[in-house]
Amino acid sequence: MTSLSALRAPLIDTYAYYKEYLSAYLKHNQDYPRSIFLEVTPHCNLRCVFCPCYIDGEEVFRDRANKYMSYETFTKIIDHISGRFNFQICFTYSGEPLLNRDVFNMIAYLRERQIPSVMHSNALLLTADKTRQVLDAGLDRFIVSLDGASKQTYEDVRRGGDFNTVIANVKALLQERTKAGLTRPFVEMQFVVTSKNKHEVPAFQTLSRDLKVDYARTKTLLVFQDTQNQGYIEEVKGYFVEDEVARYNVEDGGLVLKDASTCPEIQNCIITVDGDVVMCCFDIHGKYKFGNCIETGLDEVWRAEGYTEFRRDVMAKRRLSICSFCNTSTHVSRDVYQLPRRITFARHFAHRGGR
Ligand SMILES: C[S@@+](CC[C@H](N)C(=O)[O-])C[C@H]1O[C@@H](n2cnc3c(N)ncnc32)[C@H](O)[C@@H]1O
Ligand code: SF4
Ligand code: SF4
Repeated sequence: MTSLSALRAPLIDTYAYYKEYLSAYLKHNQDYPRSIFLEVTPHCNLRCVFCPCYIDGEEVFRDRANKYMSYETFTKIIDHISGRFNFQICFTYSGEPLLNRDVFNMIAYLRERQIPSVMHSNALLLTADKTRQVLDAGLDRFIVSLDGASKQTYEDVRRGGDFNTVIANVKALLQERTKAGLTRPFVEMQFVVTSKNKHEVPAFQTLSRDLKVDYARTKTLLVFQDTQNQGYIEEVKGYFVEDEVARYNVEDGGLVLKDASTCPEIQNCIITVDGDVVMCCFDIHGKYKFGNCIETGLDEVWRAEGYTEFRRDVMAKRRLSICSFCNTSTHVSRDVYQLPRRITFARHFAHRGGR
């Protein structure tokens, strides 16, 4: 017979996870970026229809295509900031992080230093062995991108993906986590709503409940303007859905950003596979570079006068043309499912782990 305390344990542990998370967030060292987004490879096994990293199946950032960050490079970056940077490292920018075989050692390295880790993934490569490694390494939060609730829709949007595999992988991760008596990683599912999949949002909600993930949310579509490819922009506009949380209004047949009040990224830092610090997640090509944190360490790059001024003046005031289409934190996501008590801070942090 299951005891009451056994039933309560996972919830209490999850609550403890949030408490720890919030406390780390509140205590984050103001001299450092709040979150660091790290590209361990820009390479991907999929070609999702709206992803700005791939146009007509081709990677857009040819100078970094097919590179993988080595464990040595990663530890060098972390050693520079260890003991002072104390918020989170998100393994995302472009590409699929599970393609880098060193990513589990990287997560374990962060855990040893009590730096929380977050991974966005398409979860297709999460074999039994990798699931074990995710759990052993101590990943804090695993965000699965699932943009369809049926095989047909998922595979139309996530080109090259296999719906049954991703669902089986999420199930196995949750089962193994329970078997191991762990509450980490916190498992989330995310669904970018487009005109081709919006009818499946209710089914996505049901699926999240059936799978018993910790949290699920929908995200609105971002139309990247810095792709230098009008074909992409026009195609992605065709996927746009008007909605109260959508990032844009339709005016004169075009999309106009709803709320351009604050730049959501000035406190965050993006590091490419080459160690370059670039402006923000939306600067997919890495056009605005501020230094290389493998060469000099992040402290020097982050505090350099030019970059500090750029964050304060150019980014904060949205002076660049790509800013006119960039998201704001209020028009990005909507919760569709959460277990009781698990939501309190999930909503608060939902937009911090991705674009
Ligand atoms: C670029 S992916 C990298 C991580 C991983 N490959 C994945 O798909 O989760 C990071 C996140 O960006 C989201 N994304 C990509 N293009 C987007 C767009 N145009 N609008 C909104 N979200 C987008 C993906 O759904 C994913 O959740
Ligand atoms: S899996 Fe992620 S990185 Fe790869 S194409 Fe899809 S959204 Fe882009
Ligand atoms: S407002 Fe501009 S600088 Fe800020 S995140 Fe968006 S694109 Fe980047």
